[in-house]
Amino acid sequence: MDVDAENLAKTKAELEKNFSVEVIALAKDLSLPNIAQDIIDDIDNTQIDVLINNAGFGLFGSFAETDWERESAMLHVHIITATHLTKLVLDGMIKRGSGQILNMSSLAAFQPGPLMSIYYASKGYMLSFSEAIANELKGTGVTVTALCPGPTKTAFQETVSENTCDNKIKFNMASAKEVALYGYKAMLKGKTYAIPGGFNKFLATIPRFITRNAATSIVRKIQLKNREN
Ligand SMILES: NC(=O)c1ccc[n+]([C@@H]2O[C@H](COP(=O)([O-])OP(=O)(O)OC[C@H]3O[C@@H](n4cnc5c(N)ncnc54)[C@H](OP(=O)(O)O)[C@@H]3O)[C@@H](O)[C@H]2O)c1
Repeated sequence: MDVDAENLAKTKAELEKNFSVEVIALAKDLSLPNIAQDIIDDIDNTQIDVLINNAGFGLFGSFAETDWERESAMLHVHIITATHLTKLVLDGMIKRGSGQILNMSSLAAFQPGPLMSIYYASKGYMLSFSEAIANELKGTGVTVTALCPGPTKTAFQETVSENTCDNKIKFNMASAKEVALYGYKAMLKGKTYAIPGGFNKFLATIPRFITRNAATSIVRKIQLKNREN
């Protein structure tokens, strides 16, 4: 997969200019096998106090027809690399008695998602994994937070709909800045999971009160409605 190195360099320059900090930018394809170890080796002995596993993308379509290469890349980025990076930074954090990990999950984590099956399942993994290790790490000074945003205005929506059809999601879209700030504050407080927005919090509870089949059918209808030609 192509990583946007130019955009990364621009962001690095902006951060250095606006905040007078030194930024090391590594343009790495997180879908490659063993890339997590490669990153840790590259930064040598730099102490990692905060890890944010944010990278990700979506793919719309029926599982029988979607592109395996893209799905395999998604599983690596969302699950393998994020999990491996978490494992690699934990040892140092536990020894120092402090550290914060923010894992990007989604509102998609709370129920299955027909027509985006792997995306929803991978976000479910990220929520479950984060909550489980947050519990294991109690008392160590290391916290793990899963951030579960609803639809957010970023390049994500275009990527999901690539080569399929227009995305009609227009309601309830938060700004990236709002979501990032909410996630950052939740991480600082050491919350196990965080859902930005009152309506999204409500949506996340619905699957608890209806059958799993009903929740799955509702998501399928929403997916079709949002992307009808
Ligand atoms: N937007 C939403 O509605 C929404 C809702 C819930 C959760 N999320 C989650 O939020 C996270 C951020 O997404 P976003 O909404 O900010 O979308 P975005 O604007 O498309 O940003 C995605 C980021 O992931 C990076 N990325 C993707 N594949 C990569 C790879 N193989 N190697 C390295 N970097 C890779 C992209 O890098 P390049 O710039 O190099 O492409 C980009 O920086 C994702 O995990 C997504 O699932 C988004």
